[in-house]
Amino acid sequence: MRKPTRKLTLALMAGISGLALSTTGVLAEPVPLPPEQSLSTLEYELLGRDDLWTYKALDSYSEAPFLTELVEAGSLPPVEERLPAEPLVHLTGAMSDGIGEYGGVFRHVIGGRPEGWNWLAGQHQGWGGINMAIQECFVRVGPLWQVKAEDQSGPLPNLAKSWDWNDDRTELTLHLMEGVRWSDGEPFDTEDVAFWWDDNVHDDNVASRMPKDGMGEGTTMEVIDSHTFKFTFKEPQGPSRVQSLAYIQGCPGPAHILKPEHPKYNPDATYDSYRSAQPADMLPPVVLGPWVPVIHRPDEIVVMRRNPYYWKVDEAGNQLPYMNEMHFKLTSWSDRTTQAVAGTGDFSNMENPGNYVEALKQSQAEDSPTKAQFGPRVLSWEIELNFSNTVGVEDEVDKELRDLFRNKDFRVALNYAIDRDAVGQSIARGPFSYPYTGGFSVGSPYFDADATVYYPFDTEIAMAMLDELGVVDTDGNGVRNLPGTGADIEIDLTYDNGEPTDKKQVDAVVSMLGDVGIRILPRAVDDIDAVADTGNFNMIERRHHWLIPTRQTCEYVPISLGCPDWHPADSEGNRDLFDFEVEMVDAVNLIQQTWDPAEAAEAAAKIQQLWTENAYTIGLTQAPAALLINKRIKNAHPGTPVFMFEWAEDGVVRERLWTPEGEQLDELLAGQIPEYE
Ligand code: GLA
Repeated sequence: MRKPTRKLTLALMAGISGLALSTTGVLAEPVPLPPEQSLSTLEYELLGRDDLWTYKALDSYSEAPFLTELVEAGSLPPVEERLPAEPLVHLTGAMSDGIGEYGGVFRHVIGGRPEGWNWLAGQHQGWGGINMAIQECFVRVGPLWQVKAEDQSGPLPNLAKSWDWNDDRTELTLHLMEGVRWSDGEPFDTEDVAFWWDDNVHDDNVASRMPKDGMGEGTTMEVIDSHTFKFTFKEPQGPSRVQSLAYIQGCPGPAHILKPEHPKYNPDATYDSYRSAQPADMLPPVVLGPWVPVIHRPDEIVVMRRNPYYWKVDEAGNQLPYMNEMHFKLTSWSDRTTQAVAGTGDFSNMENPGNYVEALKQSQAEDSPTKAQFGPRVLSWEIELNFSNTVGVEDEVDKELRDLFRNKDFRVALNYAIDRDAVGQSIARGPFSYPYTGGFSVGSPYFDADATVYYPFDTEIAMAMLDELGVVDTDGNGVRNLPGTGADIEIDLTYDNGEPTDKKQVDAVVSMLGDVGIRILPRAVDDIDAVADTGNFNMIERRHHWLIPTRQTCEYVPISLGCPDWHPADSEGNRDLFDFEVEMVDAVNLIQQTWDPAEAAEAAAKIQQLWTENAYTIGLTQAPAALLINKRIKNAHPGTPVFMFEWAEDGVVRERLWTPEGEQLDELLAGQIPEYE
């Protein structure tokens, strides 16, 4: 356990108005840490990075029996012709229950709804594991939790089977698997890669999930041949750089389907028509993942069937996945836990601490259909303040609010006003939660308690700081007034309608900030991502946790114009970054460039210090999360974290999950494969 120290206290005292000091004498305290005894009691063996999978030709291949029937009937080419010459081979030693049996259904329950299937253009698929079932990326990070620390030298291979650097590390060449096919049987190659990079990532009109500068500012990409491509960087890069090509960011889409919809190739297309070229009701989309959506009944279910062209096998030559069908019941995120506990769903990232006690009690019963495992990682929630001077600014009051948000003393005052222990107790009574300061959460390997600045709950300091800022109650109505416009200080706080955990925290914050004279107007919305993307908010409360600095960095630090959500740029691309934001970007760049893990850890600590000292976001609470998986499911490896390198839907490696024949659930669409025109 890392020992917190008080060494930052004095430095902080010097930085902030001396006024508040006389009230308590202390401004920052050591950050409270979770108890030494963690809820996770699991012990599991870690492997070398090459022990998970490899690429090689096997003597023979087999497939789900119903596919053999289709081959015999002449409606599908033989499995050898559908697979690459050297498929990706999942190794038996990494499987907790070994080689599987074909068939059955895996039942997800989710709270999101698919926006559409054009992920290249930034559309989401409703989360909860849908996108990870259909997208495959150049590299993969989810299963890295199964790899020993000394082998953590960057992501795992996936579509890219290997990569190499030139001597001065300014060029990175990736070697794709050969012979991979899309789910419609068309070849996957560097034409798809070029379309992803040139016409999506680097087309300013496309809201690609890989940000324009996501591979570093000024980076270029060049296709060498049908299965080789190369990035050239302005400055030397380190092994972490490759991680930017994992989950969501480095996942190509089918150029043969999407090019004809893109305005560059089709004079009749617009960027709006391109984004929605693959609407949620147009099925099946062409994918590289193990399952393909074939039915979507809005607000009811998405049904997926196995992809007969999937390019992964087990060591016995069985084409993966083992399961023929996957369901995503479209209800709510809390229902995911309820159904997993009841046994009507197979999987839940249990993220609602309010349900923990009951869910754990039930899942420990002998006859429970579910097993629950607390992993070592945590979820955290925070408030984000919009720092733009222009985006979403509708009147003078908004303008004045944004100026205040940009003032560090205001943000620090908000920190003092929030009783994080009480916020934690509001989501679950008992020892589940502890305060969160923003930045890396305690579950992160990069969390450094010494670098974390914690402003403890102290209403008096909060009030004194607000007074000092001139935000005082001039009309005696109990709400402070803004010094410029004179308006009551009322701040909209957007949060996700579907999550009781968020609502409880918002209620707590409303009352705590009310106590220091700030009126919060909660605004519950159905699609919080959509609001966050437009920048049309003053404050947002949401679950947001940062564990690995190179994972989707743009969600946290302004490495590219479109991010993070709380610091948007105007339509001309202007924004006014704080000096400490620029320092954070520098630190991230260092992490991307170094080959020395100690240097990376130091840079991450620097980010943590800048983030928490400047109260970049207002952390609320953090809590461990448990993974619930139905006992019928094999190869659900003990120790799979709900979220670490990636969400558990990726970490649990669904293509290798299986169910013994006698326990398999009936398939809705037995015998069927995705049908393309
Ligand atoms: C949502 C859920 C998470 C996880 C992710 C996967 O965010 O809340 O638990 O399932 O989707 O993308």
